[in-house]
Amino acid sequence: MPARTYDDLAPHYDKAMRPLDRWFLARLRATALRYLPEGARVLELGAGTGLNFVFYPTNTVGVATEPSSGMLRLAREKEKPDRVRLIQSCAEHLPFKNNSFDAAFATLVFCSLARPAEAFSELRRVVKSGGPVILLEHVRPSGLLGPVFDLLNLITVPLFDDHFNRRTAEEAQANGLELVKVERSLLGIINLIACRV
Ligand SMILES: C[S@@+](CC[C@H](N)C(=O)[O-])C[C@H]1O[C@@H](n2cnc3c(N)ncnc32)[C@H](O)[C@@H]1O
Repeated sequence: MPARTYDDLAPHYDKAMRPLDRWFLARLRATALRYLPEGARVLELGAGTGLNFVFYPTNTVGVATEPSSGMLRLAREKEKPDRVRLIQSCAEHLPFKNNSFDAAFATLVFCSLARPAEAFSELRRVVKSGGPVILLEHVRPSGLLGPVFDLLNLITVPLFDDHFNRRTAEEAQANGLELVKVERSLLGIINLIACRV
């Protein structure tokens, strides 16, 4: 399980995210979940402490996965729809049969993955053909800010396993997902990426 850093961050995570959630993130989390079709069996990757649970429609059915025991412990304390199971798993090796889900989503997870290609490959395996995959991610912005994020990446990877110069929409496409739409916020740093398997 490659989420040891998040075991250490877990007790501080919700407090650290609160200002961002108040500023823009909660709104974008809600928007991301609205992309999921009604009645779909849904998979969440890297659910963390469960900050998305309040945005799940009450009738959601599916599985929220998270590799870090510390994050998972806090997620278990949060309310979520009755028919959503929470299980420990990393995105690169999902313990599900092919075509188990109608849709999948992740928020702020692909920046944490050492090998995003493996997670995309798993998404293509477990989500039914044509099913939506919705990602809310911070990415490398274009223009002058791009090189700044390349430099930041030199610090954030060793400190937090957090990649600050990911091109997640492009990587999704390069790994076989169909890119439907990218909504950019905050100078292009935050992307809401809608794909299809
Ligand atoms: C920045 S947090 C985001 C948590 C939550 N999705 C949110 O939006 O608040 C990144 C999450 O990715 C998880 N993560 C790290 N490596 C992972 C992996 N290989 N597979 C799945 N999740 C992973 C971490 O444990 C952590 O919970």
